[in-house]
Amino acid sequence: MPCVVVLVGLMGSGKTTVGRRLASRLGFHFVDTDEVVVARAGRSVREVFEQDGEVVFRELESQALADSLNHIGDVVIAAAGGSVLSDTNRDAIKGRATLTVWLDAPPRTLAQRVSGAGHRPLLDGGAEAALVALESERRGLYQSVCDARIDTTGKSVADVVDEAEALTLKVRIP
Ligand code: S3P
Repeated sequence: MPCVVVLVGLMGSGKTTVGRRLASRLGFHFVDTDEVVVARAGRSVREVFEQDGEVVFRELESQALADSLNHIGDVVIAAAGGSVLSDTNRDAIKGRATLTVWLDAPPRTLAQRVSGAGHRPLLDGGAEAALVALESERRGLYQSVCDARIDTTGKSVADVVDEAEALTLKVRIP
């Protein structure tokens, strides 16, 4: 039975970094839905937002998520922060994931982690304020879709990977 691990959470929560390491430790395939969008669009996330708008970006994001969830075999999926906005996406995650982990941290911590990375258009006006607003909009959605929450505050990437690996090994059916 293939094991599908989905990581959700706000920008800066560590989905890509943790997901990549978790997958490599478990010998799973790794997919980052933003990377799928960028590869298909042939443009950066910022360019898609600026040239086509957020609605088009969200459509590409949903398609990338659906395709990632259909991966045949064991996989860790870093689902871009906004993936949980759509009912369809949340249902797809709930229907397909063996384990969904919410990587959580307060907006201030997330803002510190993303500082210096200019590729996220939603953070252009100031990362912390934007993350506070996004958190209040999305906290309930991450909660509703996840099986487990890891509070990543003050933890190293290795610590978070350890926790995520332990959760995965508990639910994995060999
Ligand atoms: C977004 C998260 C980003 C990227 C885009 C919008 C969001 O992905 O998809 O900038 O709405 O939360 P990460 O969560 O991988 O940074």
